[in-house]
Amino acid sequence: MSGSIPREFIKDLLVRVDIVDLIDSHVPLKKSGSNFVARCPFHNEKTPSFSVSRKKQLYHCFGCGAGGDAINFLMDYNHLDFVEAVEDLASFVGIEVPRETRAYTAEAVGKNASAIYDLLARVAAFYQEQLRASGCKIAVAYLKGRGVSGEIAKHYALGYAPEGWDALVGRFDRKLLMEAGLLASNDAGRVYDRFRGRLMFPIRDKRKRVIGFGGRVLDDSLPKYINSPETAVFSKGREVYGLYELLEKNSRPRRILVVEGYMDVIALAQFGIDYAVATLGTATSRSHLDLLFRFSSEVVLCFDGDNAGRQAAWRAVEAAFPSLRDGRQVKVMLLPQGQDPDSLVREEGVDGVAARIDAALPLSDYFFAHLTEGRMLNSVEAKARLLKEAKPYLEQMPEGFFKDLMFVRLRELSGGSGLDELQNQSKLTPNAAKVKRGESFKLTPLRVVIALLLQNPRLAEVLGDLQPDWDLLRFSGKELLLDILRTIEVEQPGNTAILLEFYRGRQWEKEVRVLANLVVKPEGVVQFDENAEFEGAFARVEKQGREHYIDYLWDKKTKEGLTAGENEVLLKLLSNKSA
Ligand code: UTP
Ligand code: MN
Repeated sequence: MSGSIPREFIKDLLVRVDIVDLIDSHVPLKKSGSNFVARCPFHNEKTPSFSVSRKKQLYHCFGCGAGGDAINFLMDYNHLDFVEAVEDLASFVGIEVPRETRAYTAEAVGKNASAIYDLLARVAAFYQEQLRASGCKIAVAYLKGRGVSGEIAKHYALGYAPEGWDALVGRFDRKLLMEAGLLASNDAGRVYDRFRGRLMFPIRDKRKRVIGFGGRVLDDSLPKYINSPETAVFSKGREVYGLYELLEKNSRPRRILVVEGYMDVIALAQFGIDYAVATLGTATSRSHLDLLFRFSSEVVLCFDGDNAGRQAAWRAVEAAFPSLRDGRQVKVMLLPQGQDPDSLVREEGVDGVAARIDAALPLSDYFFAHLTEGRMLNSVEAKARLLKEAKPYLEQMPEGFFKDLMFVRLRELSGGSGLDELQNQSKLTPNAAKVKRGESFKLTPLRVVIALLLQNPRLAEVLGDLQPDWDLLRFSGKELLLDILRTIEVEQPGNTAILLEFYRGRQWEKEVRVLANLVVKPEGVVQFDENAEFEGAFARVEKQGREHYIDYLWDKKTKEGLTAGENEVLLKLLSNKSA
C-alpha cells in the first residue's frame, strides 16, 4: 500500500481495460446503438438510463448523474478508494501496480504494517481467550451486569486485558508491540502493557483487520477508557468503531448512525439497531463521513443533548460541507439531557429510538436553524450577517443540485437583495444539476467545441491544421480550451477517460467532467458529422473572439488610447475581418 502510483501507469491501465467488459462483469449490459445500457446500479429505476460508451471509455447515468471512468466505477460500485480501485483494475487486466517508492524505506514500512496487523490480530485473540478463561469472572459479570449477551460479545470480539504489567510483554515480540501501540513506558524507562485489567474493544477496519483497541475499566476508576495511540495502521480521525461488524450484517445499510461511545454501539446492536458506529473519542471529521458514505447514502449524527453535545454537533456540521455531494444526506439528532443511546434504548426500546432516528433533522435544517437561532432577521444588517456567516460553508459544497438548493434557501432567508453574485458559477460550465436532470441549456459554440474535443481528443488535429492565431482571439474560456489542447498534445490520451483522469484533482476538473457529458448532437440532424460540427463551432468561436477583441480595443482607443503594439493588433484584426 505504500508509495504513489505513477501517472503513466494509470494511463496505461486505462488503455488496456475496456470499460464495457469491466462493467459488464458487474452489471450485465445490453447493446443499444453505439452504447451499452443497463438499469443503473447506483439508484433504483425501472427503465435503463445507465449508459456505457466504448468509444469514450466512460459511463454515465442520465437518471442520477453518476458517471466516470473505469476507476470511478470500481470506487463507487465496490466502495473503494482511488488506490484500491487502481489495484483492483490492474488485477482485472492482470498486471502489477508499480510504485514510485522512496524505495527502501517505503518498502520497509509496508512490510512492517503487515507484521503489525498480524500481531494485533493475535493480541485480540489473546484478549478474547482471557475473557472466556474461567479465572476471569469479573469481566464476564461486568458485561452481564450491563446486559450484553454472549452473542454480541462474540460478534464484537470483546476481550479482557488481564491485570499485571507484562501479559503481552511476556508473550509477543516487544518491538512489534511497541509499534502497535500496545506498550507504555514510565519516566524511568520501564516498558509495560498499556491495557491492564480492562474490558477490551478491538477496533477493526472494513477489511476485518484489527487496527487498535479501546479499553474500559470495570469500576469507577479513571481514566474510564484508554485507546490505542496513533500508529502506522491506526488513525482515529479516519476510522470508526463498529464498521466491520455493521457491514458483516448488511453491506449496504439504508443509513448509518454515528454515536459517541463503544458501549452505545454495542447496546444498540443488542437491541437490533445494527447500523451504528462510534467515533474514537475524537470529533466527527470529513474523512469519517467520506468513509461512511461509501457504504450508505444517509449518515445520522447522534449527540448528547447537553452543551458539549451541541458543540460537538455544530463542529461535525461544519466539517460535513465538503462531503455533501448530491444524493448524500447528513442528519443530526440530539438526545435528551443526561441520556446516551445505551441508556435510551434500554428505557424507550427499539421503537422509541428508531422513531427518534427517523425524526433526525436534515443537516440543512439544522444548519440554518443554528445560524438564525434567537435572531430577528428583519434588518438589513442581520440579513447581511447571516449571509456572511453561511456563505463560506455553502461554498465548500461540491457543485450540484443540493448546493444550488442551499443557496436558494439562503437567498430566501436573507431576503434576496443583491445576492446574484453569491453563486459565482463559472459562466462556461452549464449548471451541473441541469445537465444531470437532462434539462436543456444553451449550447454555445465554445461549449460545443470543448465538449467535442473532450469526447474525441483526436479533433485537436483539426485545430492543428487550421492554425488559428490565438493572440488575436479574446473570449472567456480561452484558458480552459488552450489547457485542454496542450494536455492532449502532451498526454496523447487515447480516449476521453484518460483525458479526464488527467484532470482529476486539478483545476478545471469540474468543467471538464460536465462538458465531457454534453450531448452536442443537434436536433433533427440525420447524419452527424463530428468534424464538420467541430469546425463550424470553432469558426463561430473564432469570429466572436475577434469581434470581442476589436470591441475591446476600439473602446480603449476612444477612451484612453492604445499602445503601439495594441494598435498593430487592431489593424491586423480589422484587415483580417474584411479579408
Ligand atoms: P462516554 O463516557 O459517553 O462512554 O464516552 P460510554 O461509551 O457511554 O461508556 P459507558 O457507558 O460509560 O461504559 C464516549 C466515548 O468517548 C471516549 C470513548 O471512545 C468512549 O466510548 N472516551 C471516553 C475516552 O476515550 N476516554 C475516556 O476516558 C472517556
Ligand atoms: Mn454510556
